[in-house]
Amino acid sequence: MFGYEKESFLHLPTPIHYLPSLSKKLGVEFYMKRDDLTEFGAGGNKLRKLEYFVHAAKKKGATTLLTVGGAQTNHGRLTAAVAAKFGMKCVIVAMDEYPGELSANLLLDRIMGAEVVLHKENGTDLMDVVETVKKRYEDQGEVVFFIPMGGSNALGDLGYYECALELLEQVKDGRVIVTVGSMGTYMGLFCGLHGSDFRLTGVLIGPFYEDVREYALTQFTQCKAAWNLDLNVTKSEFDIRDNYIRGGYNNPVKEVREAIYEMARAEGILLDPCYTGKTYAAVRDMIASGEIKPGEKIVFIHTGGFPGLYTHAHRIEMERELIDGVTIL
Ligand SMILES: Cc1ncc(COP(=O)(O)O)c(C=O)c1O
Repeated sequence: MFGYEKESFLHLPTPIHYLPSLSKKLGVEFYMKRDDLTEFGAGGNKLRKLEYFVHAAKKKGATTLLTVGGAQTNHGRLTAAVAAKFGMKCVIVAMDEYPGELSANLLLDRIMGAEVVLHKENGTDLMDVVETVKKRYEDQGEVVFFIPMGGSNALGDLGYYECALELLEQVKDGRVIVTVGSMGTYMGLFCGLHGSDFRLTGVLIGPFYEDVREYALTQFTQCKAAWNLDLNVTKSEFDIRDNYIRGGYNNPVKEVREAIYEMARAEGILLDPCYTGKTYAAVRDMIASGEIKPGEKIVFIHTGGFPGLYTHAHRIEMERELIDGVTIL
């Protein structure tokens, strides 16, 4: 895409499914694009970005992929999966304390052979920690390729530009709804869907930015330059909702769990408590407030993340709510 090459290791396009039970329940036409079904490491949106990063890493002769995130980063897990597949080492730097147990993504990282370096936030610059870890690997003779947080930059975002092109082939119009974290997924879709009959709404799931549209414009400007796009936008064109953060990043929230239960019980599809569950809870609120109109066509991008269901903080809340359905005869 735009002269950038990738390793094609995914069976694309991902399917798009009409969800009949949920559509009936919500009174809308609900479609889901199943980017959670991408193969390797339990799937998810970061694999599309990693197709580009792995190619760039191989070209540089890299032997180790280094990335950053929280202790429960899905991006780290998928970087670990791809590193394993391509015979590289993986190291994930997480600005977090040890969460008290080796579970969920952290467990999967270790199963797939990645090293996880936890560094409690104490005013240290993340990139200083990255440099220290990078040097340690280089001193051991490794060639290290760094992938930014969430795989979001002008190279990784190409994966979601391609996803937008897939979408244009699969359905003709509708309101695309996607989770916004490090922004690359939204930005790729934004650029690829611009000028089409789709409307794109992003749901921000953590308090990461002072002005999320300003940040979007910065990332857009980088993509525009790198991809040579003939496209001019103002920040008001970024429809990103920052009113569904619900108190923090990856925090247990009752309405989010209710949304997760609803999706699972209507369609047998698992969302996660940090990203996709929050976004689906936002969809329910937008329907209740009348912002999403009866009969409107929704295309929900399922970006993966189900291992997050197994993190301690979420699990204990779900156990409290669901244990009554476990009976002993
Ligand atoms: C499951 C899941 N969905 C959505 C996102 C958001 O994607 P992006 O960081 O490209 O905004 C992430 C990011 O980590 C994720 O793990």
